[in-house]
Amino acid sequence: MKRIVIFASGSGSNAENIIGFFQTKKSISVTHVLTNNQRAKVLNRCKRLNISSFVFDKNDFSETDKVLEFLKNEADYIVLAGFLWRIPSKIVEAFPNKIINIHPALLPKYGGKGMYGMNVHKAVKDNFETETGITIHFVNENYDEGAIIFQAKTDLEEEDTPQDIAQKVHELEYKYFPEVIEKVILKEEIG
Ligand code: GAR
Repeated sequence: MKRIVIFASGSGSNAENIIGFFQTKKSISVTHVLTNNQRAKVLNRCKRLNISSFVFDKNDFSETDKVLEFLKNEADYIVLAGFLWRIPSKIVEAFPNKIINIHPALLPKYGGKGMYGMNVHKAVKDNFETETGITIHFVNENYDEGAIIFQAKTDLEEEDTPQDIAQKVHELEYKYFPEVIEKVILKEEIG
C-alpha cells in the first residue's frame, strides 16, 4: 500500500476530490492531511471524511525536523493541493520525485512567489489570455520550477471574470489531478 500525505492551506476542494478518488483503490490511500493554517476549511472536510489531519507551524516545518520525521514515517508520496509555503530542501531531498504539486496555470507562465489562487486568475485576465490551464509537476526548492508531469488547457472567453477562470481551472483540476497522481505512483505512462 502506497501512502499519500496531502498538504493544503485553504479550502481543500482538491484534497477532498483526491481523498474520494483513492477511497475505492486498493494499492494507494490518502492517510493524512497537513496544513499550515489552523482556520483552513480543509480541516472541516477532514473531520467530515474521517481523515487524520494536523496543523503545523514554521518551526515544525523548517526549524526543527518535526514534519520531516513525520513524513519519513508516514508518507510514500506527498501531494500539494493548494499549499502555499515553499518546501524546505531537507524535505525535497528526502522525497526525490515524490512530491507532486498542482499549479492553476500553464507554467512557466504565471508561476513563482505570490502566484497562487485568485492572484493567478486575475493576472491571466489582465493579460487578455485566450487560454489557461493546469500544470502538475514535481517539486524542487524553487516555486513552480520542478519537472512538468502533465498540463491541460481550457479556452477563455473575453467576458470571463477571474471567478469564471477559477471555475474552469478547478474543473480541470478535479478531472485530472487524481488520475495523474495515480499514474505517477503506479509508474504508468501519462498521455
Ligand atoms: C487550486 O486551484 C490550486 O491549483 C491552487 O490553489 C487552489 C486550491 O484550491 N494552488 C496554487 O495556487 C499553488 N501555487 P482548493 O483549496 O479548493 O483545492
